[in-house]
Amino acid sequence: MRVLGIETTCDETAAAVVALRPEGGGRILANVVRSQIDEHALFGGVVPEIAARAHVEVLDSLIATALATAQVSLDDLDGIAASAGPGLIGGLLVGLTTAKTLALVSRKPLLAVNHLEAHALTARMTDNVAFPYLLLLVSGGHTQLVAVLGVGDYVRLGTTLDDAIGEAFDKVAKMLGLPYPGGPALERAAHGGDPEAFAFPRPMLGRPSPDFSLSGLKTAVRLEADRIAPLSDNAVADLCASFQAAVVDVVVDRTRVGLGAFRKVAGRAQAIVAAGGVAANATVRRALARLAAESGVPLVVPPPALCTDNGAMLAWAGIERLDLGLADDFTFAARPRWPLYGKA
Ligand code: KG4
Ligand code: ZN
Repeated sequence: MRVLGIETTCDETAAAVVALRPEGGGRILANVVRSQIDEHALFGGVVPEIAARAHVEVLDSLIATALATAQVSLDDLDGIAASAGPGLIGGLLVGLTTAKTLALVSRKPLLAVNHLEAHALTARMTDNVAFPYLLLLVSGGHTQLVAVLGVGDYVRLGTTLDDAIGEAFDKVAKMLGLPYPGGPALERAAHGGDPEAFAFPRPMLGRPSPDFSLSGLKTAVRLEADRIAPLSDNAVADLCASFQAAVVDVVVDRTRVGLGAFRKVAGRAQAIVAAGGVAANATVRRALARLAAESGVPLVVPPPALCTDNGAMLAWAGIERLDLGLADDFTFAARPRWPLYGKA
Protein backbone atom coordinates (compact mmCIF):
# COMPACT_ATOMS: atom_id res chain seq x y z
CA MET A 1 0.00 0.00 0.00
CA ARG A 2 1.35 3.44 -0.97
CA VAL A 3 -0.16 6.76 0.06
CA LEU A 4 0.65 10.39 -0.76
CA GLY A 5 0.61 12.69 2.30
CA ILE A 6 0.11 16.47 2.19
CA GLU A 7 0.79 18.83 5.11
CA THR A 8 -0.21 22.52 5.15
CA THR A 9 -1.55 23.29 8.65
CA CYS A 10 0.97 25.96 9.60
CA ASP A 11 4.26 27.21 8.15
CA GLU A 12 5.66 24.13 6.43
CA THR A 13 4.43 22.92 3.07
CA ALA A 14 5.17 19.21 2.78
CA ALA A 15 4.47 16.21 0.56
CA ALA A 16 5.59 12.61 0.97
CA VAL A 17 4.99 9.11 -0.28
CA VAL A 18 5.05 6.25 2.25
CA ALA A 19 4.65 2.51 1.64
CA LEU A 20 3.38 -0.03 4.16
CA ARG A 21 6.01 -2.66 4.93
CA PRO A 22 4.81 -6.27 4.87
CA GLU A 23 6.23 -6.73 8.38
CA GLY A 24 4.49 -3.55 9.65
CA GLY A 25 5.72 0.03 9.90
CA GLY A 26 6.30 2.30 6.94
CA ARG A 27 8.97 2.92 4.36
CA ILE A 28 9.38 6.55 3.33
CA LEU A 29 9.81 6.68 -0.45
CA ALA A 30 9.92 10.50 -0.58
CA ASN A 31 9.55 13.25 2.01
CA VAL A 32 9.93 16.85 0.88
CA VAL A 33 9.40 19.85 3.14
CA ARG A 34 9.47 23.51 2.17
CA SER A 35 9.70 25.70 5.27
CA GLN A 36 8.30 29.23 5.10
CA ILE A 37 10.78 30.55 7.68
CA ASP A 38 12.07 33.28 5.36
CA GLU A 39 8.58 34.56 4.58
CA HIS A 40 7.64 34.91 8.27
CA ALA A 41 11.00 35.80 9.87
CA LEU A 42 10.51 39.51 9.16
CA PHE A 43 7.34 39.46 11.29
CA GLY A 44 8.72 37.30 14.13
CA GLY A 45 5.90 34.77 13.78
CA VAL A 46 3.56 33.06 11.35
CA VAL A 47 1.33 35.42 9.34
CA PRO A 48 -1.71 33.32 8.29
CA GLU A 49 -2.37 35.09 4.97
CA ILE A 50 1.27 34.89 3.91
CA ALA A 51 1.32 31.21 4.91
CA ALA A 52 -1.74 30.40 2.78
CA ARG A 53 -0.25 32.13 -0.29
CA ALA A 54 3.10 30.41 0.17
CA HIS A 55 1.35 27.00 0.35
CA VAL A 56 -0.48 27.70 -2.93
CA GLU A 57 2.74 28.70 -4.65
CA VAL A 58 4.78 25.60 -3.86
CA LEU A 59 2.44 22.70 -3.13
CA ASP A 60 1.96 21.48 -6.73
CA SER A 61 5.69 21.36 -7.43
CA LEU A 62 6.41 19.71 -4.06
CA ILE A 63 3.92 16.96 -4.84
CA ALA A 64 5.48 16.49 -8.29
CA THR A 65 8.93 16.26 -6.66
CA ALA A 66 7.69 13.74 -4.07
CA LEU A 67 6.12 11.52 -6.75
CA ALA A 68 9.23 11.73 -8.94
CA THR A 69 11.55 10.94 -6.02
CA ALA A 70 9.38 7.97 -5.03
CA GLN A 71 9.27 6.93 -8.70
CA VAL A 72 5.52 6.51 -8.63
CA SER A 73 2.66 8.06 -10.58
CA LEU A 74 -0.75 9.00 -9.19
CA ASP A 75 -2.04 5.72 -10.64
CA ASP A 76 0.38 3.73 -8.47
CA LEU A 77 -1.01 5.23 -5.25
CA ASP A 78 -3.66 3.63 -3.04
CA GLY A 79 -4.84 6.85 -1.45
CA ILE A 80 -4.31 10.58 -0.99
CA ALA A 81 -4.05 11.95 2.55
CA ALA A 82 -3.95 15.54 3.76
CA SER A 83 -4.20 17.39 7.08
CA ALA A 84 -7.81 18.55 7.39
CA GLY A 85 -7.22 20.26 10.76
CA PRO A 86 -6.54 21.59 13.30
CA GLY A 87 -4.59 24.52 11.89
CA LEU A 88 -4.79 27.79 9.96
CA ILE A 89 -7.83 27.72 7.70
CA GLY A 90 -6.07 29.14 4.61
CA GLY A 91 -3.42 26.43 4.60
CA LEU A 92 -5.95 23.69 5.36
CA LEU A 93 -8.06 24.74 2.37
CA VAL A 94 -5.03 24.63 0.08
CA GLY A 95 -3.90 21.17 1.21
CA LEU A 96 -7.31 19.54 1.52
CA THR A 97 -8.62 20.94 -1.79
CA THR A 98 -5.46 19.74 -3.55
CA ALA A 99 -5.89 16.28 -2.03
CA LYS A 100 -9.57 16.14 -3.02
CA THR A 101 -8.73 17.17 -6.58
CA LEU A 102 -5.97 14.57 -6.95
CA ALA A 103 -8.18 11.88 -5.41
CA LEU A 104 -11.06 12.79 -7.71
CA VAL A 105 -9.07 12.77 -10.95
CA SER A 106 -7.16 9.59 -10.07
CA ARG A 107 -10.21 7.84 -8.51
CA LYS A 108 -8.37 7.12 -5.29
CA PRO A 109 -9.67 7.22 -1.72
CA LEU A 110 -9.35 10.52 0.16
CA LEU A 111 -8.04 10.52 3.71
CA ALA A 112 -8.86 13.74 5.59
CA VAL A 113 -6.51 13.34 8.52
CA ASN A 114 -6.35 15.03 11.91
CA HIS A 115 -2.85 16.58 12.09
CA LEU A 116 -2.56 15.56 15.77
CA GLU A 117 -3.41 11.97 14.90
CA ALA A 118 -0.63 12.06 12.31
CA HIS A 119 1.85 13.17 15.01
CA ALA A 120 0.41 10.50 17.33
CA LEU A 121 0.88 7.61 14.89
CA THR A 122 4.34 8.55 13.50
CA ALA A 123 6.13 6.20 15.92
CA ARG A 124 4.23 3.28 14.39
CA MET A 125 5.66 4.19 10.98
CA THR A 126 9.25 4.52 12.27
CA ASP A 127 9.32 1.85 14.99
CA ASN A 128 6.23 -0.30 14.49
CA VAL A 129 5.11 0.48 18.07
CA ALA A 130 2.17 -1.63 19.31
CA PHE A 131 -0.95 -0.18 20.98
CA PRO A 132 -1.53 0.98 23.66
CA TYR A 133 1.11 3.62 24.34
CA LEU A 134 1.52 6.88 26.19
CA LEU A 135 1.92 9.83 23.85
CA LEU A 136 3.58 13.07 24.89
CA LEU A 137 2.53 15.49 22.16
CA VAL A 138 4.54 18.69 22.43
CA SER A 139 4.28 21.14 19.54
CA GLY A 140 3.75 24.83 18.91
CA GLY A 141 0.01 24.61 19.38
CA HIS A 142 -0.43 21.55 21.60
CA THR A 143 0.87 20.08 24.84
CA GLN A 144 -0.92 16.88 25.77
CA LEU A 145 -0.46 13.51 27.38
CA VAL A 146 -2.64 11.01 25.54
CA ALA A 147 -3.42 7.31 25.95
CA VAL A 148 -3.27 5.99 22.38
CA LEU A 149 -5.43 2.84 22.44
CA GLY A 150 -5.85 2.35 18.69
CA VAL A 151 -6.28 4.26 15.43
CA GLY A 152 -8.97 6.83 16.15
CA ASP A 153 -9.14 5.82 19.81
CA TYR A 154 -7.51 8.37 22.09
CA VAL A 155 -8.01 9.29 25.74
CA ARG A 156 -6.75 12.64 26.97
CA LEU A 157 -4.87 12.31 30.25
CA GLY A 158 -3.51 15.83 30.61
CA THR A 159 -3.08 19.12 28.80
CA THR A 160 -1.72 22.61 29.31
CA LEU A 161 -3.76 25.12 31.24
CA ASP A 162 -2.23 28.02 29.29
CA ASP A 163 0.64 28.08 26.74
CA ALA A 164 1.85 25.11 24.70
CA ILE A 165 5.48 24.19 25.38
CA GLY A 166 6.60 25.06 21.84
CA GLU A 167 4.79 28.38 22.17
CA ALA A 168 6.67 29.06 25.45
CA PHE A 169 9.98 28.29 23.68
CA ASP A 170 8.99 30.65 20.86
CA LYS A 171 7.89 33.48 23.19
CA VAL A 172 10.95 33.24 25.46
CA ALA A 173 13.23 33.16 22.42
CA LYS A 174 11.55 36.27 21.03
CA MET A 175 11.86 38.18 24.30
CA LEU A 176 15.58 37.33 24.42
CA GLY A 177 16.09 38.64 20.89
CA LEU A 178 16.70 35.23 19.28
CA PRO A 179 15.65 34.64 15.66
CA TYR A 180 12.40 33.01 14.59
CA PRO A 181 11.56 30.12 14.85
CA GLY A 182 12.38 30.30 18.53
CA GLY A 183 12.54 26.67 19.67
CA PRO A 184 15.61 25.54 17.71
CA ALA A 185 17.29 28.96 18.21
CA LEU A 186 16.78 28.72 21.98
CA GLU A 187 18.18 25.21 22.06
CA ARG A 188 21.30 26.40 20.20
CA ALA A 189 21.71 29.44 22.47
CA ALA A 190 21.40 27.23 25.57
CA HIS A 191 24.44 25.18 24.53
CA GLY A 192 27.07 27.39 26.15
CA GLY A 193 24.85 28.38 29.08
CA ASP A 194 24.63 27.26 32.71
CA PRO A 195 21.32 25.48 33.42
CA GLU A 196 21.66 26.35 37.10
CA ALA A 197 22.43 30.05 36.64
CA PHE A 198 18.81 30.99 37.37
CA ALA A 199 16.41 29.07 39.63
CA PHE A 200 13.24 29.34 37.54
CA PRO A 201 9.95 27.86 38.81
CA ARG A 202 8.84 24.36 37.78
CA PRO A 203 5.06 24.93 37.48
CA MET A 204 2.75 22.00 38.41
CA LEU A 205 5.64 19.85 39.70
CA GLY A 206 4.27 17.08 41.90
CA ARG A 207 0.58 17.72 41.05
CA PRO A 208 -1.47 14.49 40.90
CA SER A 209 -3.12 15.20 37.52
CA PRO A 210 -0.72 15.21 34.53
CA ASP A 211 -1.42 18.77 33.40
CA PHE A 212 1.00 21.51 32.39
CA SER A 213 1.28 25.25 32.90
CA LEU A 214 3.95 27.34 31.18
CA SER A 215 2.92 30.98 31.48
CA GLY A 216 4.39 31.50 35.00
CA LEU A 217 7.76 30.17 33.87
CA LYS A 218 7.69 32.42 30.82
CA THR A 219 6.93 35.44 33.03
CA ALA A 220 9.73 34.49 35.44
CA VAL A 221 12.21 34.52 32.54
CA ARG A 222 10.96 37.92 31.42
CA LEU A 223 11.25 39.44 34.91
CA GLU A 224 14.80 38.10 35.28
CA ALA A 225 15.79 39.29 31.80
CA ASP A 226 14.40 42.78 32.59
CA ARG A 227 16.25 42.84 35.92
CA ILE A 228 19.66 42.07 34.44
CA ALA A 229 19.27 44.02 31.17
CA PRO A 230 21.13 44.86 28.99
CA LEU A 231 21.77 41.20 28.23
CA SER A 232 25.22 39.94 27.28
CA ASP A 233 25.52 36.85 25.08
CA ASN A 234 26.51 34.89 28.18
CA ALA A 235 23.44 36.07 30.06
CA VAL A 236 21.20 35.02 27.14
CA ALA A 237 22.87 31.60 27.09
CA ASP A 238 22.35 31.20 30.85
CA LEU A 239 18.71 32.32 30.64
CA CYS A 240 18.08 29.86 27.79
CA ALA A 241 19.83 26.96 29.54
CA SER A 242 17.99 27.65 32.81
CA PHE A 243 14.61 27.96 31.05
CA GLN A 244 15.23 24.75 29.14
CA ALA A 245 16.23 22.94 32.36
CA ALA A 246 12.98 24.05 34.02
CA VAL A 247 10.93 22.88 31.01
CA VAL A 248 12.70 19.52 31.01
CA ASP A 249 12.03 18.99 34.74
CA VAL A 250 8.35 19.77 34.16
CA VAL A 251 8.11 17.48 31.11
CA VAL A 252 9.71 14.56 32.96
CA ASP A 253 7.59 15.00 36.10
CA ARG A 254 4.34 15.40 34.13
CA THR A 255 5.12 12.41 31.90
CA ARG A 256 5.89 10.29 34.98
CA VAL A 257 2.49 11.21 36.43
CA GLY A 258 0.99 10.58 32.97
CA LEU A 259 2.31 7.01 33.06
CA GLY A 260 0.43 6.47 36.33
CA ALA A 261 -2.77 7.87 34.83
CA PHE A 262 -2.24 5.69 31.75
CA ARG A 263 -2.11 2.53 33.89
CA LYS A 264 -5.58 3.30 35.29
CA VAL A 265 -7.01 3.72 31.77
CA ALA A 266 -5.22 1.06 29.76
CA GLY A 267 -2.86 -0.98 31.94
CA ARG A 268 0.78 -1.24 31.00
CA ALA A 269 2.05 1.08 28.27
CA GLN A 270 3.95 -0.59 25.41
CA ALA A 271 6.01 2.58 25.07
CA ILE A 272 6.36 6.23 25.89
CA VAL A 273 6.20 8.03 22.55
CA ALA A 274 7.18 11.68 22.10
CA ALA A 275 5.95 13.65 19.11
CA GLY A 276 5.69 17.25 17.89
CA GLY A 277 8.34 19.88 17.29
CA VAL A 278 9.58 20.10 20.89
CA ALA A 279 10.43 16.38 20.78
CA ALA A 280 13.20 17.43 18.36
CA ASN A 281 14.97 19.05 21.37
CA ALA A 282 18.01 16.96 22.38
CA THR A 283 17.83 17.89 26.10
CA VAL A 284 14.16 16.90 26.22
CA ARG A 285 14.97 13.61 24.45
CA ARG A 286 17.80 12.76 26.87
CA ALA A 287 15.64 13.49 29.93
CA LEU A 288 12.80 11.32 28.58
CA ALA A 289 15.30 8.52 27.98
CA ARG A 290 16.24 8.67 31.69
CA LEU A 291 12.55 8.53 32.68
CA ALA A 292 12.00 5.55 30.39
CA ALA A 293 14.96 3.71 31.90
CA GLU A 294 13.71 4.43 35.41
CA SER A 295 10.13 3.31 34.65
CA GLY A 296 11.03 0.27 32.55
CA VAL A 297 8.86 1.42 29.64
CA PRO A 298 10.70 1.80 26.31
CA LEU A 299 10.95 5.32 24.86
CA VAL A 300 10.31 5.90 21.16
CA VAL A 301 11.07 9.30 19.67
CA PRO A 302 11.02 9.60 15.88
CA PRO A 303 14.03 11.36 14.30
CA PRO A 304 13.82 15.18 14.60
CA ALA A 305 12.72 15.69 10.98
CA LEU A 306 9.71 13.44 11.62
CA CYS A 307 8.88 15.18 14.94
CA THR A 308 8.41 18.58 13.31
CA ASP A 309 5.67 18.93 10.69
CA ASN A 310 6.18 16.75 7.61
CA GLY A 311 4.22 14.95 4.90
CA ALA A 312 5.34 11.42 5.80
CA MET A 313 3.31 11.46 9.02
CA LEU A 314 0.21 12.35 6.99
CA ALA A 315 0.86 9.60 4.47
CA TRP A 316 1.34 7.11 7.31
CA ALA A 317 -1.86 8.15 9.13
CA GLY A 318 -3.57 7.77 5.74
CA ILE A 319 -2.21 4.22 5.43
CA GLU A 320 -3.43 3.32 8.93
CA ARG A 321 -6.90 4.71 8.26
CA LEU A 322 -7.16 3.20 4.79
CA ASP A 323 -6.19 -0.17 6.23
CA LEU A 324 -9.26 0.08 8.49
CA GLY A 325 -11.54 1.22 5.66
CA LEU A 326 -11.80 4.74 7.08
CA ALA A 327 -11.68 6.75 3.80
CA ASP A 328 -13.44 10.13 3.78
CA ASP A 329 -16.10 11.78 1.71
CA PHE A 330 -15.34 14.62 -0.72
CA THR A 331 -17.70 16.83 1.28
CA PHE A 332 -15.29 16.70 4.24
CA ALA A 333 -14.74 20.31 5.34
CA ALA A 334 -11.49 21.64 6.82
CA ARG A 335 -11.61 22.00 10.62
CA PRO A 336 -9.48 24.81 12.09
CA ARG A 337 -10.32 23.35 15.52
CA TRP A 338 -10.47 19.61 15.79
CA PRO A 339 -9.81 17.84 19.11
CA LEU A 340 -8.26 14.39 18.93
CA TYR A 341 -10.55 12.70 21.39
CA GLY A 342 -13.29 10.13 21.23
CA LYS A 343 -13.56 7.08 19.02
CA ALA A 344 -13.55 7.51 15.22
O1 KG4 B 1 5.00 20.06 15.43
P1 KG4 B 1 5.49 21.39 14.94
O2 KG4 B 1 6.51 21.40 13.82
O3 KG4 B 1 4.32 22.30 14.47
C1 KG4 B 1 3.10 22.37 15.18
O4 KG4 B 1 3.02 23.21 16.10
O5 KG4 B 1 2.19 21.53 14.85
O6 KG4 B 1 6.09 22.15 16.22
C2 KG4 B 1 6.62 23.44 16.11
C3 KG4 B 1 7.02 23.90 17.51
C4 KG4 B 1 7.49 25.34 17.56
O7 KG4 B 1 6.94 25.98 18.69
C5 KG4 B 1 8.99 25.20 17.67
O8 KG4 B 1 9.62 26.31 18.30
C6 KG4 B 1 9.13 23.95 18.48
O9 KG4 B 1 8.11 23.10 17.99
N1 KG4 B 1 10.46 23.35 18.30
C7 KG4 B 1 11.38 23.22 19.27
C8 KG4 B 1 12.53 22.66 18.66
N2 KG4 B 1 12.25 22.44 17.33
C9 KG4 B 1 10.98 22.87 17.14
N3 KG4 B 1 11.33 23.54 20.57
C10 KG4 B 1 12.44 23.29 21.31
N4 KG4 B 1 13.57 22.77 20.82
C11 KG4 B 1 13.67 22.44 19.50
N5 KG4 B 1 14.80 21.92 19.00
ZN1 ZN C 1 2.53 19.66 14.13
